[in-house]
Amino acid sequence: MTTDQTTLPDCWEKFQQVLDNGIDRIILFGPPGTGKTYCGLHHGNVEAGAFRLVCTEDMTNADVTGSFMLEKGDFRWVSGAALKAWNGDGTAGGRLVVDEIDKAGGDVFATLLAMLDTPESASWENPQNGRVHTPKAGFTAVMTTNVEEMQELPPALTDRFPVRIRIDQPHPDALKILSRDLRGIAVQMADAGERRISLRQFMSFDSLRKGLETERAAEIVFGHRAESIMDAIAVDGVA
Ligand SMILES: Nc1ncnc2c1ncn2[C@@H]1O[C@H](COP(=O)(O)OP(=O)(O)O)[C@@H](O)[C@H]1O
Ligand SMILES: [Mg+2]
Repeated sequence: MTTDQTTLPDCWEKFQQVLDNGIDRIILFGPPGTGKTYCGLHHGNVEAGAFRLVCTEDMTNADVTGSFMLEKGDFRWVSGAALKAWNGDGTAGGRLVVDEIDKAGGDVFATLLAMLDTPESASWENPQNGRVHTPKAGFTAVMTTNVEEMQELPPALTDRFPVRIRIDQPHPDALKILSRDLRGIAVQMADAGERRISLRQFMSFDSLRKGLETERAAEIVFGHRAESIMDAIAVDGVA
Protein backbone atom coordinates (compact mmCIF):
# COMPACT_ATOMS: atom_id res chain seq x y z
CA MET A 1 0.00 0.00 0.00
CA THR A 2 1.27 3.48 -0.75
CA THR A 3 0.13 6.70 0.80
CA ASP A 4 0.33 10.18 -0.65
CA GLN A 5 3.84 11.19 0.43
CA THR A 6 3.15 14.92 0.49
CA THR A 7 0.58 14.62 3.26
CA LEU A 8 2.60 12.34 5.54
CA PRO A 9 3.91 13.53 8.90
CA ASP A 10 7.68 13.16 9.16
CA CYS A 11 7.62 9.94 11.24
CA TRP A 12 5.37 8.16 8.76
CA GLU A 13 7.36 9.50 5.83
CA LYS A 14 10.47 7.95 7.38
CA PHE A 15 8.69 4.61 7.67
CA GLN A 16 7.70 4.80 4.00
CA GLN A 17 11.21 5.77 2.97
CA VAL A 18 12.94 2.92 4.81
CA LEU A 19 10.41 0.41 3.47
CA ASP A 20 10.90 1.72 -0.06
CA ASN A 21 14.67 1.48 0.24
CA GLY A 22 15.24 -2.10 1.26
CA ILE A 23 15.34 -1.94 5.07
CA ASP A 24 14.01 -5.27 6.32
CA ARG A 25 14.09 -4.80 10.12
CA ILE A 26 12.26 -1.82 11.59
CA ILE A 27 11.21 -0.87 15.11
CA LEU A 28 8.22 1.47 15.44
CA PHE A 29 7.97 2.82 18.97
CA GLY A 30 6.04 5.47 20.85
CA PRO A 31 2.60 5.99 22.34
CA PRO A 32 -0.10 3.40 21.63
CA GLY A 33 -2.93 3.92 19.17
CA THR A 34 -1.08 5.68 16.34
CA GLY A 35 -1.28 2.89 13.78
CA LYS A 36 2.06 1.14 14.32
CA THR A 37 0.62 -2.37 14.15
CA TYR A 38 -1.79 -1.57 11.35
CA CYS A 39 0.86 0.05 9.17
CA GLY A 40 3.33 -2.72 9.99
CA LEU A 41 0.83 -5.21 8.59
CA HIS A 42 -0.20 -3.25 5.50
CA HIS A 43 2.58 -0.95 4.31
CA GLY A 44 5.43 -1.73 1.95
CA ASN A 45 5.52 -5.00 0.06
CA VAL A 46 3.27 -7.44 1.92
CA GLU A 47 2.11 -9.38 -1.11
CA ALA A 48 3.48 -12.64 0.30
CA GLY A 49 1.43 -12.19 3.46
CA ALA A 50 1.70 -10.40 6.79
CA PHE A 51 1.60 -12.25 10.09
CA ARG A 52 1.16 -10.79 13.54
CA LEU A 53 2.60 -12.02 16.78
CA VAL A 54 1.40 -10.38 19.98
CA CYS A 55 3.87 -11.13 22.76
CA THR A 56 2.63 -11.98 26.23
CA GLU A 57 4.16 -13.76 29.20
CA ASP A 58 1.96 -16.78 28.49
CA MET A 59 2.94 -17.31 24.89
CA THR A 60 4.99 -20.32 23.87
CA ASN A 61 7.24 -21.29 20.99
CA ALA A 62 4.13 -22.76 19.36
CA ASP A 63 3.05 -19.18 18.64
CA VAL A 64 6.41 -18.37 17.05
CA THR A 65 7.55 -21.45 15.16
CA GLY A 66 4.59 -23.80 15.54
CA SER A 67 3.58 -27.09 17.10
CA PHE A 68 2.00 -30.41 16.33
CA MET A 69 -1.70 -30.42 16.95
CA LEU A 70 -4.00 -33.41 17.10
CA GLU A 71 -6.62 -33.15 14.41
CA LYS A 72 -9.07 -35.97 13.69
CA GLY A 73 -6.69 -38.52 15.17
CA ASP A 74 -3.68 -37.23 13.24
CA PHE A 75 -0.91 -34.96 14.33
CA ARG A 76 -0.52 -32.05 11.98
CA TRP A 77 2.10 -29.30 12.08
CA VAL A 78 0.57 -25.89 12.64
CA SER A 79 3.08 -23.15 11.87
CA GLY A 80 3.52 -20.17 14.16
CA ALA A 81 3.57 -16.57 12.93
CA ALA A 82 7.34 -16.29 12.44
CA LEU A 83 7.59 -19.49 10.41
CA LYS A 84 4.59 -18.45 8.33
CA ALA A 85 6.25 -15.13 7.60
CA TRP A 86 9.55 -16.84 6.70
CA ASN A 87 7.73 -19.01 4.19
CA GLY A 88 5.46 -16.23 2.94
CA ASP A 89 3.53 -17.38 -0.12
CA GLY A 90 5.92 -20.28 -0.73
CA THR A 91 8.03 -18.28 -3.17
CA ALA A 92 8.76 -15.01 -1.40
CA GLY A 93 9.06 -14.30 2.29
CA GLY A 94 6.31 -12.31 4.02
CA ARG A 95 6.11 -9.73 6.78
CA LEU A 96 6.29 -10.53 10.48
CA VAL A 97 4.87 -7.92 12.85
CA VAL A 98 5.94 -8.51 16.43
CA ASP A 99 3.95 -6.48 18.93
CA GLU A 100 5.42 -5.82 22.36
CA ILE A 101 8.40 -8.10 22.08
CA ASP A 102 9.54 -6.80 25.47
CA LYS A 103 6.73 -8.87 27.03
CA ALA A 104 7.98 -12.21 25.70
CA GLY A 105 9.45 -14.65 28.24
CA GLY A 106 13.04 -15.95 28.08
CA ASP A 107 12.49 -19.13 26.10
CA VAL A 108 10.25 -17.53 23.49
CA PHE A 109 12.47 -14.48 23.34
CA ALA A 110 15.45 -16.68 22.42
CA THR A 111 13.44 -18.31 19.63
CA LEU A 112 12.32 -14.93 18.36
CA LEU A 113 15.89 -13.69 18.28
CA ALA A 114 16.83 -16.71 16.18
CA MET A 115 13.94 -16.08 13.78
CA LEU A 116 14.89 -12.41 13.45
CA ASP A 117 18.58 -13.03 12.84
CA THR A 118 20.18 -11.82 9.62
CA PRO A 119 18.88 -13.91 6.70
CA GLU A 120 22.31 -15.49 6.13
CA SER A 121 22.53 -16.86 9.69
CA ALA A 122 18.90 -17.71 10.33
CA SER A 123 17.74 -21.29 10.15
CA TRP A 124 15.29 -23.37 12.10
CA GLU A 125 14.89 -27.14 12.26
CA ASN A 126 11.47 -28.66 12.64
CA PRO A 127 11.91 -30.99 15.64
CA GLN A 128 9.51 -33.58 14.29
CA ASN A 129 10.81 -34.19 10.78
CA GLY A 130 14.24 -32.56 10.88
CA ARG A 131 13.38 -30.31 7.95
CA VAL A 132 15.50 -27.17 8.01
CA HIS A 133 13.78 -23.88 7.20
CA THR A 134 15.41 -20.59 6.28
CA PRO A 135 13.67 -17.27 5.63
CA LYS A 136 12.63 -16.88 1.99
CA ALA A 137 14.02 -13.82 0.23
CA GLY A 138 11.83 -10.82 0.91
CA PHE A 139 11.12 -11.67 4.54
CA THR A 140 10.73 -8.45 6.54
CA ALA A 141 10.05 -7.78 10.21
CA VAL A 142 8.47 -4.80 11.92
CA MET A 143 8.57 -4.67 15.68
CA THR A 144 6.27 -2.36 17.62
CA THR A 145 6.61 -1.31 21.24
CA ASN A 146 5.47 1.37 23.64
CA VAL A 147 8.92 1.34 25.27
CA GLU A 148 10.39 4.82 24.81
CA GLU A 149 14.04 4.17 25.60
CA MET A 150 15.66 1.75 23.21
CA GLN A 151 18.31 1.04 25.86
CA GLU A 152 15.57 -0.69 27.87
CA LEU A 153 15.31 -3.34 25.17
CA PRO A 154 17.81 -6.19 25.20
CA PRO A 155 20.85 -5.30 23.06
CA ALA A 156 20.63 -8.63 21.21
CA LEU A 157 17.29 -7.44 19.93
CA THR A 158 18.12 -3.83 19.10
CA ASP A 159 21.27 -5.06 17.31
CA ARG A 160 19.02 -6.82 14.85
CA PHE A 161 16.89 -3.71 14.30
CA PRO A 162 19.21 -0.84 13.47
CA VAL A 163 16.38 1.37 12.19
CA ARG A 164 14.05 2.67 14.87
CA ILE A 165 11.38 5.27 14.25
CA ARG A 166 9.43 7.02 16.96
CA ILE A 167 5.84 7.39 15.83
CA ASP A 168 4.42 10.51 17.46
CA GLN A 169 1.32 11.04 15.34
CA PRO A 170 -1.62 8.93 14.23
CA HIS A 171 -1.29 7.85 10.61
CA PRO A 172 -3.35 10.19 8.39
CA ASP A 173 -5.30 7.21 7.01
CA ALA A 174 -6.31 6.24 10.55
CA LEU A 175 -7.40 9.82 11.26
CA LYS A 176 -9.72 9.72 8.27
CA ILE A 177 -11.91 7.26 10.19
CA LEU A 178 -12.65 10.10 12.64
CA SER A 179 -15.14 12.90 11.99
CA ARG A 180 -13.33 16.04 10.85
CA ASP A 181 -13.89 18.05 14.03
CA LEU A 182 -11.98 15.44 16.07
CA ARG A 183 -8.91 15.05 13.88
CA GLY A 184 -6.97 18.07 15.14
CA ILE A 185 -7.36 17.22 18.79
CA ALA A 186 -6.63 13.56 18.15
CA VAL A 187 -3.26 14.55 16.70
CA GLN A 188 -2.54 16.96 19.58
CA MET A 189 -3.43 14.43 22.27
CA ALA A 190 -1.77 11.34 20.76
CA ASP A 191 1.64 12.16 22.24
CA ALA A 192 0.67 14.29 25.23
CA GLY A 193 2.47 12.22 27.88
CA GLU A 194 0.27 11.54 30.89
CA ARG A 195 -2.53 13.61 29.36
CA ARG A 196 -2.53 11.41 26.28
CA ILE A 197 -5.86 10.42 24.77
CA SER A 198 -5.66 7.67 22.23
CA LEU A 199 -7.11 7.56 18.77
CA ARG A 200 -9.23 4.62 19.92
CA GLN A 201 -10.84 6.79 22.62
CA PHE A 202 -11.71 9.44 20.06
CA MET A 203 -13.13 6.71 17.81
CA SER A 204 -15.33 5.48 20.67
CA PHE A 205 -16.47 9.01 21.46
CA ASP A 206 -17.23 9.63 17.78
CA SER A 207 -19.35 6.51 17.65
CA LEU A 208 -21.18 7.08 20.95
CA ARG A 209 -22.15 10.66 20.17
CA LYS A 210 -24.08 9.48 17.12
CA GLY A 211 -26.62 7.85 19.43
CA LEU A 212 -26.21 9.79 22.68
CA GLU A 213 -26.09 13.38 23.84
CA THR A 214 -22.58 14.68 23.17
CA GLU A 215 -22.04 15.46 26.88
CA ARG A 216 -23.03 11.92 27.83
CA ALA A 217 -20.73 10.39 25.22
CA ALA A 218 -17.85 12.55 26.48
CA GLU A 219 -18.53 11.64 30.11
CA ILE A 220 -18.47 7.94 29.29
CA VAL A 221 -15.23 8.05 27.31
CA PHE A 222 -13.27 10.89 28.93
CA GLY A 223 -14.58 10.73 32.51
CA HIS A 224 -13.62 13.72 34.66
CA ARG A 225 -11.78 15.30 31.75
CA ALA A 226 -14.91 15.39 29.59
CA GLU A 227 -15.54 19.10 30.02
CA SER A 228 -12.05 20.29 29.17
CA ILE A 229 -11.86 17.99 26.18
CA MET A 230 -15.22 19.22 24.90
CA ASP A 231 -13.92 22.78 25.23
CA ALA A 232 -10.78 21.87 23.31
CA ILE A 233 -12.83 20.28 20.53
CA ALA A 234 -14.99 23.42 20.33
CA VAL A 235 -11.95 25.71 20.16
CA ASP A 236 -10.32 23.45 17.57
CA GLY A 237 -13.55 23.59 15.56
CA VAL A 238 -13.49 27.39 15.20
CA ALA A 239 -9.73 27.70 14.79
N1 LIG B 1 -3.49 3.36 8.05
C1 LIG B 1 -4.64 3.08 8.70
N2 LIG B 1 -5.81 3.02 8.05
C2 LIG B 1 -6.93 2.73 8.70
N3 LIG B 1 -7.01 2.48 10.02
C3 LIG B 1 -5.91 2.52 10.72
C4 LIG B 1 -4.66 2.82 10.10
N4 LIG B 1 -3.72 2.80 11.05
C5 LIG B 1 -4.36 2.50 12.20
N5 LIG B 1 -5.67 2.34 12.00
C6 LIG B 1 -6.64 2.06 13.08
O1 LIG B 1 -6.27 2.86 14.21
C7 LIG B 1 -6.34 2.13 15.43
C8 LIG B 1 -4.99 2.09 16.13
O2 LIG B 1 -4.05 1.42 15.29
P1 LIG B 1 -2.97 0.37 15.84
O3 LIG B 1 -2.21 -0.09 14.66
O4 LIG B 1 -3.61 -0.67 16.67
O5 LIG B 1 -2.07 1.33 16.76
P2 LIG B 1 -0.76 0.99 17.62
O6 LIG B 1 -0.22 -0.31 17.15
O7 LIG B 1 0.13 2.16 17.36
O8 LIG B 1 -1.22 0.94 19.05
C9 LIG B 1 -6.84 0.75 15.03
O9 LIG B 1 -8.25 0.73 15.23
C10 LIG B 1 -6.48 0.64 13.57
O10 LIG B 1 -7.34 -0.25 12.88
MG1 LIG C 1 -0.05 -2.02 18.33
